[in-house]
Amino acid sequence: MLVNATAMLQSAERNHYGIAAFNTNNLEWTRSILTAAEETQSPVIIQCTSGAAKWQTSFQVVSDIVHTMVKTMGITVPVALHLDHGTYEDCFKCIDAGFTSIMYDGSKEPDFATNLARTKELVKIAHNKGLSIEAEVGGIGDGGAAGEIADPNECVAIAEAGVDFLACGIGNIHGLYPEDWAGLNFDVLADIKAKVGSLPLVLHGGTGIPADQVAKAISMGVAKINVNTDLQVAFAKAVREYVEAGLDQQGKGYDPRKMLKPGAEAIVARATEIINQYGSAGRGWE
Ligand code: 13P
Repeated sequence: MLVNATAMLQSAERNHYGIAAFNTNNLEWTRSILTAAEETQSPVIIQCTSGAAKWQTSFQVVSDIVHTMVKTMGITVPVALHLDHGTYEDCFKCIDAGFTSIMYDGSKEPDFATNLARTKELVKIAHNKGLSIEAEVGGIGDGGAAGEIADPNECVAIAEAGVDFLACGIGNIHGLYPEDWAGLNFDVLADIKAKVGSLPLVLHGGTGIPADQVAKAISMGVAKINVNTDLQVAFAKAVREYVEAGLDQQGKGYDPRKMLKPGAEAIVARATEIINQYGSAGRGWE
């Protein structure tokens, strides 16, 4: 069933487990993520960037796929459909398209005052329509470049704006981590958590963070962990092995359903491992 992400993340925060927010890229991704969530009886967040929405033509198509698949696959666990790193304008598009949750990423706005003012406005609009909302303080690094460390006082201001969960930069980076990555900054995480109380925190850049650091972050109040690259790597490896084994040249091995099957199955397997690692398996409707 499609729900907003507030209750599931509050439960995760209270009970010290994490919920994976997997990025979807296409129909295969959505189906594989839903399969893993249902098989493990875990709540799940399916999220989409504007780039992945463009690939699928629009946020509307992403929303239609998720809503319809949840029905036709008979999914029984709670599923939130969330916008990932949305601009102010993206948020309105996703609200109209039937998303159940949005992220307004104001960390790229020219100043914090703009981030705060727009967050406040979007909180009101999202809550009026029953959606949950995430906002961000301190940019998450990209392409191996170190991210910003969030200012705990800015986190308090955004928390007080009424967001349901908060992404704060603590040294995390999107994509694969460089060899010399310094790791998560747990001192800042502890400081932020002490200041924002029971508000669930979000860890972006979940791919490649050592399991002990993820477990520690969860124990300190991280409830939502974003994972994108990890499933892309699993998909690419499985499809590459299929092609390199020449299987696309045998019989009707070129049929896209045959070619993409190993990739789709690899996503199910990897998403299942991640759900089990974060501890949300069996937590369907807590
Ligand atoms: P990764 O691609 O590093 O897993 O990050 C995903 C993410 O944080 C999406 O917002």
